[in-house]
Amino acid sequence: DASDIEKGTYPHFMLKEIDEQPFAMRKIIQEYQDDNDEIKLEEDVRQAMANSDRVYIIAAGTSYHAGLIGKEFLEKIAQVPTEVHIASEFSYNMPLLSEKPLFVFISQSGETADLRSVLVETNRLGHPALTMTNVPGSTLSRESDYTLHLHAGPEIAVASTKAYTAQMAVLAILAVDTARAKGLTLDFDPLKELGIVGNAMEALCDQKEEFDQIARDYLSTTRNCFFIGRGLDYFVGLEGALKLKEISYIQAEGFAGGELKHGTIALIEDGTPVIALATQEHVDGSIRSNVQEVVARGANACIISPEHLTREGDAFSIPTVHPLLAPLVSVLPMQLISYYAALHRDCDVDKPRNLAKSVTVE
Ligand code: AGP
Repeated sequence: DASDIEKGTYPHFMLKEIDEQPFAMRKIIQEYQDDNDEIKLEEDVRQAMANSDRVYIIAAGTSYHAGLIGKEFLEKIAQVPTEVHIASEFSYNMPLLSEKPLFVFISQSGETADLRSVLVETNRLGHPALTMTNVPGSTLSRESDYTLHLHAGPEIAVASTKAYTAQMAVLAILAVDTARAKGLTLDFDPLKELGIVGNAMEALCDQKEEFDQIARDYLSTTRNCFFIGRGLDYFVGLEGALKLKEISYIQAEGFAGGELKHGTIALIEDGTPVIALATQEHVDGSIRSNVQEVVARGANACIISPEHLTREGDAFSIPTVHPLLAPLVSVLPMQLISYYAALHRDCDVDKPRNLAKSVTVE
């Protein structure tokens, strides 16, 4: 029961939950691994994936950001066409459905009303639904055909952290399992790679003072902050901006590096913090040239890159993991920087104003 969960020696649940991410990775590996070290997934989930010609991911907030990464996993690893929709928009902007759609609801709480109203409608239409949730007995889990458990452990802080990385891990497992079932050959062992991710997370959790310092250097007095990235890093930037907004009340925006010149660059002033994620080798040159563009206009750029791509002047170097799984690691600096920024601004980290842990109204 969530009310039994204690902070222990932690000042906030959010910090505790950030720290729990390596354990969550290990738990997920354990839960989704069979005796032969292969992926273990319920047969009916496998069948549902095999029977569908297109996946429609429905989610909100941080879970929506995990869905954006999930689409990349499903398309790149498993070659399954995938769309991602904001739950509250789905009924207005309903896409033309494929012949055999599979709806995947991603929700930490399993109680989000915006998702439930989509599920009620897809159930009415007779389409299969799979819920990925941290709460197996939740409404969405009960009302959908299949459930994949996130195994992140109870998440109490309003700002979601470990559920997000767990969602991405389980989406990667689902994508790999689907790829295998289709007979596609893969050049990596997902469970082993997730183990490497867990170790990388642990290393980052041991370097908190550095993120505390980055928050002081870049965010202690600023009114706003931008997050830029390309490819997967763009999606992590969206999550970084949401995290910072919700707990520190700094106006933050995440956007694709290439979009800068189409408008947002007008907002860059002397000292504007720009946090740039540069974890993807194929876009390294282009994201770094975006950084040059903002620096030339006075921005205070903070580049976060993996060890193998780090250059002199980068603010922080994260451990290298499989490039597709980089979001699971690169989000930790986002979470920790946001946490310390909120702390320095005397904000209520675990219970930010105007927000509830699960949004049960439409
Ligand atoms: C996360 O930090 C937010 N508080 C929020 O965006 C959350 O992810 C969203 O409300 C969805 O919740 P769910 O995953 O429980 O459905």
